[in-house]
Amino acid sequence: MITEKMSVALNTQINKELYSAYLYMAMSAHAQQKGLPGVANWFFVQTQEELSHAQRIYAYLIRQNAAVTFEAIEKPVIDVETPLAMFEKGLEHEKYVTASIHALVDVALEEKDRATEVFLQWFVNEQVEEEENACGIIDQLKLAGEAGSGLFMIDRELATRTFAPPAPEDK
Ligand SMILES: [Fe+2]
Ligand SMILES: [Fe+2]
Repeated sequence: MITEKMSVALNTQINKELYSAYLYMAMSAHAQQKGLPGVANWFFVQTQEELSHAQRIYAYLIRQNAAVTFEAIEKPVIDVETPLAMFEKGLEHEKYVTASIHALVDVALEEKDRATEVFLQWFVNEQVEEEENACGIIDQLKLAGEAGSGLFMIDRELATRTFAPPAPEDK
């Protein structure tokens, strides 16, 4: 069992993960329209990851016999044009999600909820990876240029990303 405060906080995080999926799918569509299929693929794979994050928290709430409540998902606004600006927006969003995960760990500690604290460790590590990935692509875009053959090569590389479903939580 988990406390009401903990379950409300985890439900809020499901909404944030679903919003992330929505945001990245909108980015993917934007990249398609710009003629960047590799960038579009990268963001589409990221969408799948975000959905799996939401499902992971959902499954945990079910296992803990906690309430699951869904709220409206905010409309994503794509106010960026270039690939560099898209990945910078993605990185900003991931920093926000990292802070949100860390706040969840704080709630688990306050509630002396050791099970949820352990459950959240996977997300703490995942956020390190998410920020690292975005930073790496931003560096490449800055180095290779945002247009011409440099962008063409980065786009081809981003086209190779595939979705690997994360291992389910150990039971
Ligand atoms: Fe996520
Ligand atoms: Fe990831």
